[in-house]
Amino acid sequence: MTTGLLAGKVVLVVGGSTGIGADAARVFAGEGASVMLAARSKDALAALTEEFTEAGHDVAYAPGDVSVGADVAGFVDATLDRFGRLDGAFNNAGINGQGRLDDVSEDDFDRIMAVNVKGTWLCLREEIRAMRESGGSIVNTSSVGGFRGNTGLGAYQATKHAVIGLTRTAAHDNGPLGIRVNVVAPGPTETPMLTQWRQNDPAAVERRIAAVPLRKAGTTTEVANAAAWLLSDRASQVTGVVLPVDGGYSA
Ligand code: NAI
Repeated sequence: MTTGLLAGKVVLVVGGSTGIGADAARVFAGEGASVMLAARSKDALAALTEEFTEAGHDVAYAPGDVSVGADVAGFVDATLDRFGRLDGAFNNAGINGQGRLDDVSEDDFDRIMAVNVKGTWLCLREEIRAMRESGGSIVNTSSVGGFRGNTGLGAYQATKHAVIGLTRTAAHDNGPLGIRVNVVAPGPTETPMLTQWRQNDPAAVERRIAAVPLRKAGTTTEVANAAAWLLSDRASQVTGVVLPVDGGYSA
C-alpha cells in the first residue's frame, strides 16, 4: 500500500521542469502522489519523468505554455487520460521581471502578465472544472513580493499580488464544492531564477538575503514541503490563505 502525506492522490505540477516545481514533483511523488509534470520544455520534462520513474514513482508529463488556454486544457486532459482524475494542483509556473516600472517595455509587461497572471487563472479555470464533482486542493505560487513593494522588479510584484487575488476569489467561489485554494509565498529561494537574478544584480540579491531573519535563502524542498501540506488532507480546514516560506522576511 502507498503511504505518505499525498498517498493515492493525483497531482498536476505546472512549472515542473526546474527549480521549485521539479523538486515539488519529487516531494509529492515521495509522499505517495501520482504526478503529471507540465512546463514548456519537452526534453526537460521527459528527462525528469525518466528519472522519477526509475526511482519507482508514478509520473508522466505534458508539455505546453501556461499562457495558452488550449495548452493548459491539455495539461488537465493529459492528467485525466493518464490517471483518471485530478485531486491536487500546484500552479507554480512563473517568470521574473527586472528594472524600474518606468523602464519596462510594453512587450515585457504583457509577457509577465500573460505567464504569471493569465497563466494562473487558466490553470485555476481548467483544474476547477475537473474538480467540480470530486473536490480537490490547489496551491498557487506567489511570492513575498505578493504583499509588499520592492525596488527594481518591474511588474513582477504586481503579478504576484494578482496571484493572491485570484486565489482568494477562487477559495470563496469553490469552498462550497469542496475545493480548497491556497498560496505559498516563497522568499528568496535557491533556484535557476535566483541564479539569473544574482547574475544581473548580485547586490540586490545579497541585500534581500541579509534581510531574512534566518539569514539564508530558502531551499526548493522547504517550499515544496509547505505546498505538500496545503495539498494534503492535513490542511482540510485551510483555504484562501497565504503561507510565507521566507525565513521570516515578511514577518
Ligand atoms: P524556475 O525558473 O526554476 O522555474 C519556473 C518554472 O516555470 C519552470 O518549470 C519553467 O519551465 C516554468 N515556466 C515558465 N514560463 C512558462 C510558461 N510560459 N509555460 C509553462 N511553464 C513555464 O523558477 P523558480 O524559482 O523555481 O520559480 C518557481 C515559482 O516560484 C515562480 O512562480 C516564481 O515566481 C516563484 N518564486 C520564486 C522565488 C525564488 O527566489 N526563486 C521567490 C518567490 C517566488
